[in-house]
Amino acid sequence: MNLADTEIVLGILKKQGYDVTDKPEEADVVLLNTCSIRENAEQRIYGRIGNLKTLKANKPELVLGVLGCMAERLRKDLVEDKKAVDLVVGPDEYRRLPEYIDIALNGDKGIGVKLSRTETYDDIEPHREDGLSAWISVMRGCDKFCTFCVVPFTRGRERSRSLHSIITELENLSVRGFKDVTLLGQNVNSYLDEENELSLDFADLLSAAAKVDKNMRIRFSTSHPQDISDKLIYTIAEHPNLCNYIHLPVQSGSNRILELMNRTYTVEHYLNLIEKAKKIIPGVSFSTDIISGFPTETWEDHLATLEILKQVRYDGAYMFKYSPREGTKAFRMEDDVPEVVKSKRLQEIIDIQHQISLEKNQDMIGKDEIILVEGFSKKSNNFIAGRTDTNKTVIVPINDKIKTSDYIRVKINKATSGTLFGDYLSHIQLEKEGIALTA
Ligand code: 5AD
Ligand code: SF4
Repeated sequence: MNLADTEIVLGILKKQGYDVTDKPEEADVVLLNTCSIRENAEQRIYGRIGNLKTLKANKPELVLGVLGCMAERLRKDLVEDKKAVDLVVGPDEYRRLPEYIDIALNGDKGIGVKLSRTETYDDIEPHREDGLSAWISVMRGCDKFCTFCVVPFTRGRERSRSLHSIITELENLSVRGFKDVTLLGQNVNSYLDEENELSLDFADLLSAAAKVDKNMRIRFSTSHPQDISDKLIYTIAEHPNLCNYIHLPVQSGSNRILELMNRTYTVEHYLNLIEKAKKIIPGVSFSTDIISGFPTETWEDHLATLEILKQVRYDGAYMFKYSPREGTKAFRMEDDVPEVVKSKRLQEIIDIQHQISLEKNQDMIGKDEIILVEGFSKKSNNFIAGRTDTNKTVIVPINDKIKTSDYIRVKINKATSGTLFGDYLSHIQLEKEGIALTA
């Protein structure tokens, strides 16, 4: 989400004549885009600002600015108290960033931290380098108010872009040769094009997106388990280029903790949803987010989380220790799971998921997969790397037929928990591959 926002910021600044340099000492303006989701993300920014102090000491006219979710929360601390930065601009004020930079260049502090109910940057063309993969932000903000989460406070209320502008952006990406586009939002299932008299929802958007370029893979993130509709599941099944991959954060396997988190679903509802999706979308894979050590989490609650990992057998998981965030409801609860216990539980979660990922990848040995070739593998120019539609990286020996941006069929011959290895079989056209509907 932040990378997508950075591309919007670059789009705005490039239009004003700014350009990017990879040499920090040459820069007139240095902007850090920040995240507040967990304490350690914020700590990292303090470290980065510290490192940039020398740059500023050598060039006092340099404008040093903080963008993103930390802006509102840390404005007082960063600008007024520590005087560490010249500019703080929150996620809904990027349109005015050039003005704030001018203010800072004139020696004042540029501060814009208001949240908006309507800003979606619908008309801004994000600046993207040429490549195969891109993100498109389709909605902003979140109205879910999970009790642990700072997002509704830092990014504001939910609002969606128009379907028309998203489709135009996809068409432009297709012309530029992009092949793998992720539609982004905090909760994409709440997408609603209110401007359109038909009130088009996320399934409508996916269906329209799939038709733009049948050789372009479409992914999306993130889905809330409460809001995934049957219509959405059938839509994914219907279009071969909508990836069979759903990131569906469960957060905890305990109903008691889910209720305290205000996640508004039960483990039973979640598992039913997974079963339904597996029936309707053959070969669908899932990933999830887990928080370990939420206030009052007992050993039994933790075991329930391990249990849900074993039941669903996710392809991957993002696993975090609970981090209290000021302003959230959970912040008022005692953070009573000791740090050592949180760490131990998190490690158990990671170990189990690691084992499941390994087993799932090993089950793929001997099977055929279609990958989009992304370029040389990181480790050697004798191999290419590509991704399956379930987002797994496959490494394949090069041959003169294989080029970047080709779709090829490969046979998997080896697997670790993070990577698959395969042999080239043939080239394919994505649009000619169909998916059989089973329900
Ligand atoms: N502590 C730990 N993890 C958090 N997340 C969100 N807020 C917190 C927090 N306070 C995690 C959730 C969410 C992901 C983006 O970050 O798992 O799905
Ligand atoms: Fe945060 Fe919950 Fe919204 Fe996700 S759905 S952004 S966890 S409040």
